[in-house]
Amino acid sequence: MKLLVVGGGGREHALIKALKKNPAVDVIYALPGNGGIAADAECVAIGATDIPAIVDFAARKGVDYAVVAPDDPLALGCVDELEAIGVPCFGPRRDAAVIEASKAFSKNLMKKYGIPTARFETFTDPQAAMAYIDRVGAPIVIKADGLALGKGVTVAATVEEAKDAVRDMMEGGKFGASGKTVVIEEALEGPEVSVLSFTDGKTVVPMVSSMDHKRALDNDQGPNTGGMGTVAPNPYYTPEVAERCMREIFLPTVRAMNAEGRTFKGCLYFGLMLTKDGPKVIEYNCRFGDPETQVVLPLLKTDLLTVMRAVTEGKLASTQVEFLDAAACCVVLASRGYPVKYENGFPITLPETGPGREIYVAGAERKDGKLLSHGGRVLGCVAVEDTLERAVSAAYELADSVEFENGFCRRDIGKRALDALAK
Ligand code: AMP
Ligand code: GLY
Repeated sequence: MKLLVVGGGGREHALIKALKKNPAVDVIYALPGNGGIAADAECVAIGATDIPAIVDFAARKGVDYAVVAPDDPLALGCVDELEAIGVPCFGPRRDAAVIEASKAFSKNLMKKYGIPTARFETFTDPQAAMAYIDRVGAPIVIKADGLALGKGVTVAATVEEAKDAVRDMMEGGKFGASGKTVVIEEALEGPEVSVLSFTDGKTVVPMVSSMDHKRALDNDQGPNTGGMGTVAPNPYYTPEVAERCMREIFLPTVRAMNAEGRTFKGCLYFGLMLTKDGPKVIEYNCRFGDPETQVVLPLLKTDLLTVMRAVTEGKLASTQVEFLDAAACCVVLASRGYPVKYENGFPITLPETGPGREIYVAGAERKDGKLLSHGGRVLGCVAVEDTLERAVSAAYELADSVEFENGFCRRDIGKRALDALAK
């Protein structure tokens, strides 16, 4: 089989390594991939949003199955276009990807179908937004409507901070068209949980839960990033919480999308907050999370390609999906200065990895046989162990054995989860 994976980050590296385990796979093309992914796939210099070039490539190579991983190509209809030339895909069509691409859409969906989420209002007029902030006060959360690389959210502690965020987005053009419409919502409190799920539009199979660490610095300080590390499973996600989420959130969401004529097939990601009034949706993503995927897939026992094809073919109900009874931790090594300003081109030397260890490459290029950093997040160092405590210390041991002069990582990935377990 010839597979195509659209994307080129750590998440895609994890997907490719898992897909490769299926013996029927002859070749995996990564568009564009990166210098580290090149060890596991054939990287082709086609950008993840260049839909016509992706479709043309798939047709030329006779690709049998495609996995579209990032949000942008999904929102642009990459799956629709590939299906139109007869290539089956993993990932939602454009009309379903809107669940991530527009926060106004997803918030209104939740309101219409009674899915628990923070109370909110949507604004296209800055004056009306300011008046609303004055009326309800702080803390309050301001979100750009469209895709903003996970950075379009301000949790404002004061009315002034909230208004500044509105001004930046609606008048200052921050996030471009994505910020012309803003969603303003109530600030929720509680532990956060990420749940990725497989769904074929009928059945929902949640994967093992995880916890992201979005801030750049220890103790959740510094700016928001794409994610500095993850652990799985998330200790706050008890079987009782899981059961409630399935009943109140997961199945209602999939049914709501069907009722809207936007059947969702692929990986539906639930970003949840466990409030004192129960679990509530913070956000939906229409794709695998990054770096959640890097801890979830190493715990997947079942063959990934088999599950993905069952999703595409609508046969998820009759497919067993099993996870290891173990724990995983991913420590991200990023370029110094990320997410604000950083330099590329520093050499990286990776250690040998044994069983239960993976280094997924997120941002690097290969030049004259050398791996050079190229991007904000550069590596994801992952360990799987029987307990979370062991997984965390093994992931740090792995990260510390990488030679990468310009790299930095948070030193407290997994601390919150371990504290919760100790209680
Ligand atoms: P998002 O991009 O929507 O996932 O938001 C980024 C982060 O902002 C989330 O992971 C939360 O930590 C925080 N956040 C988003 N919405 C809320 C909310 N309504 N209340 C409190 N925190 C929030
Ligand atoms: N780690 C969060 C995301 O992928 O959006």
